[in-house]
Amino acid sequence: MLTATGLTKHFGGVVALDDAGIELVSGQVHGLVGENGAGKSTLVKILCGVLRPDAGTITIENHPVRLTDARRAAAHGVAVVSQELMTFGDLIVLENLFPHNRMAGKRELARRAAPVLAELGLSAPPHARVGTLPLADRQLLEICRALLQEPRILVLDEPTSTLPREAVARLEQTIRGLAKRGLAVLYISHYLEDVMRIAQRVTVLRNGRTVLTGRETTKVSLGSLVEAMLGEAIPPTTPTRRPTSNGPALHLTDVTTPHLHKVSLTATAGEIVGLAGLQGAGHLAVFDVICGRKHPTSGQVTLPSGTTPRSFRQAVAAGVAYISGDRKARGLMLDRPVWENLTAVRSLGLGRDGALPPRRPRQARAQTQATKLRISSDLTLPASALSGGNQQKTVLGKWLDAAPTLALLDDPTRGVDVRARLEVHDLIRDLAESGRPVLIASSDLTELTELCHRVLIFQHGQITAELTDATEQDLSLAMNAGFARPTNTKRNAPRQR
Ligand SMILES: Nc1ncnc2c1ncn2[C@@H]1O[C@H](COP(=O)(O)OP(=O)(O)OP(=O)(O)O)[C@@H](O)[C@H]1O
Ligand SMILES: [Mg+2]
Repeated sequence: MLTATGLTKHFGGVVALDDAGIELVSGQVHGLVGENGAGKSTLVKILCGVLRPDAGTITIENHPVRLTDARRAAAHGVAVVSQELMTFGDLIVLENLFPHNRMAGKRELARRAAPVLAELGLSAPPHARVGTLPLADRQLLEICRALLQEPRILVLDEPTSTLPREAVARLEQTIRGLAKRGLAVLYISHYLEDVMRIAQRVTVLRNGRTVLTGRETTKVSLGSLVEAMLGEAIPPTTPTRRPTSNGPALHLTDVTTPHLHKVSLTATAGEIVGLAGLQGAGHLAVFDVICGRKHPTSGQVTLPSGTTPRSFRQAVAAGVAYISGDRKARGLMLDRPVWENLTAVRSLGLGRDGALPPRRPRQARAQTQATKLRISSDLTLPASALSGGNQQKTVLGKWLDAAPTLALLDDPTRGVDVRARLEVHDLIRDLAESGRPVLIASSDLTELTELCHRVLIFQHGQITAELTDATEQDLSLAMNAGFARPTNTKRNAPRQR
């Protein structure tokens, strides 16, 4: 269906792709994996006409094609769900789904979209403003938009990084269905087990080169896939140690907001506490009150510094780090150099008199963080030039640079590769072991089971269970427990604490 050979792409001194190739067959799902910065998204951008390769050829159904722009690629039947979400926050769902449509009325568009939205389980109303939707819904929206183009070749660059497991399962089914109907699908993900399950073939990129090409997934092991990606076997994980420190703790007492009902919790120094729940269950609303973005209508939040957060700025000054997987909206100044991003938080704190600290020491600090996080790129490049995973590490780095007294992590390893994920986990453990309370929410339940000392389950704005040594299944069961119950039953005190 589509064959790309000899693809090479340089960005200044960086070789993003080096004689890479891939062959997509209709009716098949092809997995593409590789470490952060391996060149996956660059390959995708070439396939959808956003980037021109320095060398290489692409043929579609044996005809050489020149994918010189996105429209041309679309005309050849290529639809892409990009890694960095491309939804328009100011527009409503329907306008996002049909960006080029000026002809059909809204009612007609809604009718056309309905089956696709239903299939993927996107329940957002068609007239909702997209900027108000949770990240997971925006990701589903982007997938729906690609499907509505009725492509012959569908490219999904990290489509599940923000999705809860139920949505991943639905998407998987949809992809299987599309392949059955004859589409060629390219599926990129750091969730290697997902790739092995969904894809019939898999290609591995390392430093821009294809080191394993179109191998049948039934004939490779997960271990050999990882080795091909890294060029070496993966180091074993370090288990989280029991908290030992006795520094200051975080306290929430009977916190009530429109989304929370009398939530009380304590995270002691050195403790990694997981917060889990279905979408809208309240676990993320807790972050909003701790970082001063929302104010409780009643109840009390006391930060480790002893203060109550009045605003985001003030919470940050009191040592709250808020590390979000929504790096575009909350994490990065994409047009500013990487080094500036890496020092942004601390500079904000230090420069309260209005004057920024001098450039040289900031650049030196940025270099230290970059080395620690293994962000290998040129730090003078704009953050937008980093691979998705390295962008996420930059978000983490800028908060670590500010020496926080409390860390709030919301999907901290979104889009981060296997090795970097372990490294980020080690950094989170270090942060806790050096005496900070850490709260973490994650759409990746395995992450919670690996990292947390205990996990608090949220339902309907309340903590309904507290689990220690839980498996992924335990968490999932607790999050979904009692869902047949009507939601307007009297809200009692937490059932199990
Ligand atoms: N516009 C750009 N300018 C400079 N360098 C770039 C640009 N775009 C990508 N790069 C570099 O090219 C390399 C490949 O990046 P790419 O985004 O393709 O990686 P990736 O495999 O998608 O990684 P990830 O898993 O983190 O998304 C990286 O070193 C990246 O920094
Ligand atoms: Mg990428």
